[in-house]
Amino acid sequence: MTNQNMPTNEPHRGEPEGGEAHPAAAPLWHGRFEQGPSDELWAFTVSLPFDRRLWLDDITGSRAHVKGLAKVKLISAAEEAAVLDALDQVEREMRSGSFTFLATDEDIHTAVERRVTEIAGPPGAKLHTGRSRNDQVATDLRLYTRRELIDVARRVTVLQRTLLHRAKEAGETYVPGYTHLQRAQPVLLAHHLLAHGWALFRDVDRLLDARRRADVSPLGAGALAGSSLPLDPRFTANELGFARVFDNSLDAVSDRDFVAESLFCCTLLAVHLSRVAEEIVIWSSEEVGFIRLDDRYSTGSSMMPQKKNPDIAELTRAKAARLIGHLTGVLAMLKGLPLAYNRDLQEDKEPFFDAVDQLKLALSAMNGMIDTLRFDRKRMEAAADSPYLAATDLAEWLVGRGTPFRDAHALVGALVRDSLERNVGLPELVAAHPLLGEEAAALCAPGQAVQRRSSPGAGGPVQVAKQLVKFQKQLDTTMTRLQDA
Ligand code: ARG
Repeated sequence: MTNQNMPTNEPHRGEPEGGEAHPAAAPLWHGRFEQGPSDELWAFTVSLPFDRRLWLDDITGSRAHVKGLAKVKLISAAEEAAVLDALDQVEREMRSGSFTFLATDEDIHTAVERRVTEIAGPPGAKLHTGRSRNDQVATDLRLYTRRELIDVARRVTVLQRTLLHRAKEAGETYVPGYTHLQRAQPVLLAHHLLAHGWALFRDVDRLLDARRRADVSPLGAGALAGSSLPLDPRFTANELGFARVFDNSLDAVSDRDFVAESLFCCTLLAVHLSRVAEEIVIWSSEEVGFIRLDDRYSTGSSMMPQKKNPDIAELTRAKAARLIGHLTGVLAMLKGLPLAYNRDLQEDKEPFFDAVDQLKLALSAMNGMIDTLRFDRKRMEAAADSPYLAATDLAEWLVGRGTPFRDAHALVGALVRDSLERNVGLPELVAAHPLLGEEAAALCAPGQAVQRRSSPGAGGPVQVAKQLVKFQKQLDTTMTRLQDA
């Protein structure tokens, strides 16, 4: 067996122990086999390089399992203590970086159990009683999921706080609202910022919901069918703080719904970030010029000295694509699997871990960029002050005086066409029109149209003031939910 599969790029690695033959240097299944695995098999199947990050979850799961074994008297109190002490030592070694992984450690479960046995001696050999790596890995990954989904959700609330802060700060600054990326009606900048913030509330809610469904202990399902030993899965579930325990051992070891669902929540969140990012790209272009990025959150060009590029936003768009790939990859991996455990399931980890890692980075970077960018109020309002953005208000003004909306729409539409064709200002034409006049023309004045967006949930100042209060309240409630989770 070669050494090339030894994980080398992570902190929890000690130096190899001076080449001495190791007592546990055979695979876990060595009893039935005459020969060890080929290098090719090992290189292809080993998962330690990526599942080693589950080391603490694996130790946590093992502690619960050992206590469970002692509780039902499958091991003695002394054996329990010896294995728990060994697990403590493994934790210390992992934390300090002195833990030595061996080339024969196929995955993190093997590595931990191997080391426990080295430290504890014969009691260590009892650690895996009634357990399989199939229920073990499902347990580890659910522990990881429970923790990470909360972490992601917390980071989302940080971004929401920034959006809220920027929205409050924006006051009555207004921007063109768009449909089809064509200027449509003006709204407060705060309204636009909070629109993204509300989408993020749904993301947090989804993350917490997915977490609730993931909160089931599979420990005690064994390889697939449970055990002939008197295990107590409810006891270990309680030890691990899981809300529920599996009902069906086959389902327990083969269910990766929680991975697929978490990936979906992460992916939709990434899609939301990507939409914010796309607007930042557009708004920071010279053509639009609504925002200027802070130096610390933009990049320059190696060739063109004048450039200031929105790379964080661009990469956020691309990370969303990457997460979509991870989600579809995992769904495709799952779709053909017969019950129960299949090695295919090992392929759940890299996409899941990567999705969480990339998403956390994107959330932090986007947060910093949004927190520090500068809005160009003049340019935004100048763009929103085009009299054509008051066209709907003119039609609605006529509606207020008894004109059916369809007729009002046609009348104002004809004035807009006339204005564009003859190059005459819309306010002038409005003022001269017998059904409209000066009062209506005043609606086209700068800053007027946004003031009139006053229906519930609308983008004008009166409603946005209420929205800010509501958003703040919901954010407070969400933070409390996350603290209690
Ligand atoms: N590394 C494996 C995984 O991630 C652990 C379970 C291995 N089980 C097995 N029967 N080979 O799925």
